Amino acid sequence: MRVAILSAEAVPYSKTGGLGDVAGALPKALKQIGVDSVLITPCYLQTKGEYLWKLAIDDLTVNWRGVNYRAKAFYSEANGAPTFLIDAPEYFHRDSIYGYTEDYERFAFFNHAALVLLERIGAPPDIVHLNDWHCGFAAVEIASKRMRSDYWRDVRTVFSIHNMAYQGGFDANELWKFGFSGEFERNAFLFNGYASAMKAGLAVSDTLSTVSPRYSHEIQTAQEGYGLDWLLRSRANRLIGITNGVDYEVWNPATDAVLPAHYDFRNLAGKRECKRALLENFSLPVSLEKPIFASITRLTAQKGIDLMMQVAGEILATGSYIVSLGSGAAEYENFWQRLRDYAPAQVGIYRGYNEDLAHLIEAGSDIFMMPSKFEPCGLNQMYSLRYGTIPIVRAVGGLDDTVQNFDRVSGSGNGFKFAEYRADKFLEKIYEALFAYYEPDSWRRLQLNGMTTDNSWENAARKYEQLYRFTKS
Ligand code: ADP
Ligand code: GLC
Repeated sequence: MRVAILSAEAVPYSKTGGLGDVAGALPKALKQIGVDSVLITPCYLQTKGEYLWKLAIDDLTVNWRGVNYRAKAFYSEANGAPTFLIDAPEYFHRDSIYGYTEDYERFAFFNHAALVLLERIGAPPDIVHLNDWHCGFAAVEIASKRMRSDYWRDVRTVFSIHNMAYQGGFDANELWKFGFSGEFERNAFLFNGYASAMKAGLAVSDTLSTVSPRYSHEIQTAQEGYGLDWLLRSRANRLIGITNGVDYEVWNPATDAVLPAHYDFRNLAGKRECKRALLENFSLPVSLEKPIFASITRLTAQKGIDLMMQVAGEILATGSYIVSLGSGAAEYENFWQRLRDYAPAQVGIYRGYNEDLAHLIEAGSDIFMMPSKFEPCGLNQMYSLRYGTIPIVRAVGGLDDTVQNFDRVSGSGNGFKFAEYRADKFLEKIYEALFAYYEPDSWRRLQLNGMTTDNSWENAARKYEQLYRFTKS
């Protein structure tokens, strides 16, 4: 079984969110269970030179919009498995990874170049594994090439949905410029009068997956399907939910190079040192007995920031600390800034992206807040579990699949979970968590349950292997 994985981002080459973590880790996990893969991803301005091991191809000729564009491809195994990075400065050397009006064109180019690269590097893969709307273009190109090219005849596609909220919509009049002029191709993209890369991927890929079982059901409803629930329902027998794993080589408090002290479930002494370092990092007074509530996230409506805004005052009234790492919408950034100005001795904020600080927060805090509106999988709740930091989550998507509510009597459960999207429901769980925090036996039990939860990639990789086999059969 040979698999080519395409992704717009992949750790350690690039990352804006969970997709980067997943695409970086899956190839390594597949390799460990004996599945050969090659990852193909863009080389961005943000990709560190140390990860570009060697220039593999310096004349990757990509016929694009009627001219021959000369791209390059670097080779690396910095993520623990074979990777090619497509270097096309005009498209990918920019101040940020996403956020341009012509993003659809940038990723259409990436997809086309990736397929040119595959033909160049050798025999056809059995499966091309595509991720999110950025790879919808390749799904159509492969489906269409299959009808007329020997190389592509037996290649099958798996399309993984990481977030239905982003669909890569654009003017359908642009399609022909990317070589999509046939009826089959146009129909694949057309959706409500415009072109949608997500819709195309969902419509023509051989099988579909998403990143948790619960989300695989949610997206078949009008509320979470973003207009495409009908298509997902019609393809439900080809859609599966596979919960993401955690790369424990990167996220492990026993070895994490960023931390001032290490710990594991047998001995949590080092976690106190991390807590001290975290408070010092934010120039907060050091009171190790008070709990630290934390948030690390893109500041978008998806993440339930408005619920956090409604409960923040109550949390501060209990004497607890709050720390937040993230950037995004101005209204949310301003909220955190105002909260910090209001209670400078209790609140620590960092606006921006900071990988090392994300690790220190996971280790040094006590309670992690993730009251998402929707959450396809979510990784931070799983990182929190391993770091002995108790997650409070809303029961949606992967959060519902990975967190079980704590039961004081039986001692079961690894976090706290509420259902309705309401601040008072969230607050109830916050008080429940505080109650447990001040009861050392309960807290220790919760931490143990969380730290010993196995969310390793191996389970997920085996499910992907099965999906690849099913897709090929
Ligand atoms: P999403 O992909 O929707 O953003 P996930 O929970 O799947 O949500 O993954 C988010 C990932 O991005 C985690 O690895 C998290 O630590 C990281 N992250 C989010 N915001 C920041 C930030 N400001 N600085 C550093 N890491 C961040
Ligand atoms: C998306 C989702 C997140 C998921 C990640 C990786 O960004 O928002 O829930 O964990 O993709 O699959």
